[in-house]
Amino acid sequence: MLTDCADISVSSQPGAVVFADSLGASLAAILRHLDHDHLALVTDNNVAPLADKLLSGSSSALSAPRVVIPAGEENKDIKTLEEVWQGFEAASLTRRSIVINLGGGVVTDLGGFAAACYKRGIRFINLPTTLLAAADASVGGKTGIDFCGLKNEIGVFALPQATIVSTSPFATLPDREFYSGYAEIVKMGYVADFSRVGAMLDIDRIKNDPAALKEVLSFAIEAKQAIVDADPKEQGLRRVLNFGHTAGHAFESLLLSRGKGITHGCAVAHGILVALILGHVICGMPSAPISPYVSFLRENYPRLPIGCKDYPELITLMHNDKKNRGKGVSFVLLNEGMHPLESIAVSDGQLTDALDLYRDC
Ligand SMILES: NC(=O)c1ccc[n+]([C@@H]2O[C@H](COP(=O)([O-])OP(=O)(O)OC[C@H]3O[C@@H](n4cnc5c(N)ncnc54)[C@H](O)[C@@H]3O)[C@@H](O)[C@H]2O)c1
Ligand SMILES: [Zn+2]
Repeated sequence: MLTDCADISVSSQPGAVVFADSLGASLAAILRHLDHDHLALVTDNNVAPLADKLLSGSSSALSAPRVVIPAGEENKDIKTLEEVWQGFEAASLTRRSIVINLGGGVVTDLGGFAAACYKRGIRFINLPTTLLAAADASVGGKTGIDFCGLKNEIGVFALPQATIVSTSPFATLPDREFYSGYAEIVKMGYVADFSRVGAMLDIDRIKNDPAALKEVLSFAIEAKQAIVDADPKEQGLRRVLNFGHTAGHAFESLLLSRGKGITHGCAVAHGILVALILGHVICGMPSAPISPYVSFLRENYPRLPIGCKDYPELITLMHNDKKNRGKGVSFVLLNEGMHPLESIAVSDGQLTDALDLYRDC
C-alpha cells in the first residue's frame, strides 16, 4: 500500500511503500516502530558519498556500519553477496537486526537477497536512489543476483519491511539513469492505464516538475503493487509487467555482448516500440498511438546500432527468454482496447517484419 510518511503505522506493514520528503526522517520514524538491535547499511560506491546527506534525520542509520559494494550490474554476483554477508558478520547482525538498502536496483536486489537468506531471513528496508529502483525494483518482493551469465538466476521473493521513496536522491542521478527508470514508468501506463500515457510522454515537463514526477511515480508504484498483490508469484497477470521486455532484453543482451552496453530502461524503451508494432499487427491495437511513442523514443533515447544482419541473433535471444511458453516467442501485446494480453505467441516471420518496421520508424 502506498502511503505518506505521516501514517507510519500503516507503513510498518511488510511491503508498504512510503512517500517521503526526507528519507532520513521517514526512516527514523519507521525504525521507531520496529523492535531491533543492530542496523547495517548496504550501498554502492557511487551512492556512499551521498549517504550522509540522504540519511540526515536518522542518527541510527547514519552511524550504522556500512557495507559498500562496487557499483554496476556486473557486481550483482555471488562474490559481492559473500562480501555483504561478511559485512553482516562484522556488524554482528542478529535475527533482530535490520538491513537498510540505499541505492539503485542492484543494491536493493542484492541487499534484499542477502538479508532474506542471512540467519534464515532478517528484515530489510529499501531506500531506492534511482528512478528505476523506486518505480520498479524495490516494489514487489523480487530479490536476487545474477549467476552463470544469467540475470536474476538465483533469488527469492522477500518483501522489504518498507520501501521509502523520495525524489530527492534523483537530483544527482545521471540523465541516462533518469531516462532508464522513466521507461518503466511509461511501461506501467501502457499495461495499467493507457489514458495516462499521452501526458507521460511529455517527459520534459515531468522531469522538471517534482510534483508531476511524484504523481507519475506514485501511479507506477500503485499499479505495480496492485498487479503484484493479485499475482505475487507470477502465475499469470504479473507477466504483463514484461511489456516491452521481450525485445528489450534481446537488445540489451546483444549490445552487451558487443561491448556497447545500454541501460536496461533504454532497451525497454526500444522494446516497447516493437511490442506496439506487434500489437497492431497481431492483436488489433489501433495504429494511432504508435506515432506519439515514436516521437518520444527518438527524442529521448539513442538509436540502437542494429541492422537486419542482427535479426537472427536477436530472434535466438528472444527464443531463449525464460518467460516463453509453448510455441513461438511469448510477448505481452495490447489489444484493440489498449489492454495488455500476456503470452501471445509470435512467429519468427512476424518478428522479422516487426523489426523492419521498428527500424523504419
Ligand atoms: N526486483 C525487481 O523487481 C526488479 C525490477 C526491475 C529491475 N531490477 C533490477 O534493478 C537493477 C537495475 O537497477 P538500476 O537501474 O537502479 O541500476 P543500478 O543500481 O546499477 O544504478 C544505476 C547507476 O546509478 C548509480 N546511482 C544510484 N543512485 C544514484 C544517485 N542518486 N545519484 C547518482 N548515481 C546513482 C549507481 O551507482 C549505478 O552506477 C537490475 O539489476 C535489475 O535486474 C529488479
Ligand atoms: Zn524492466
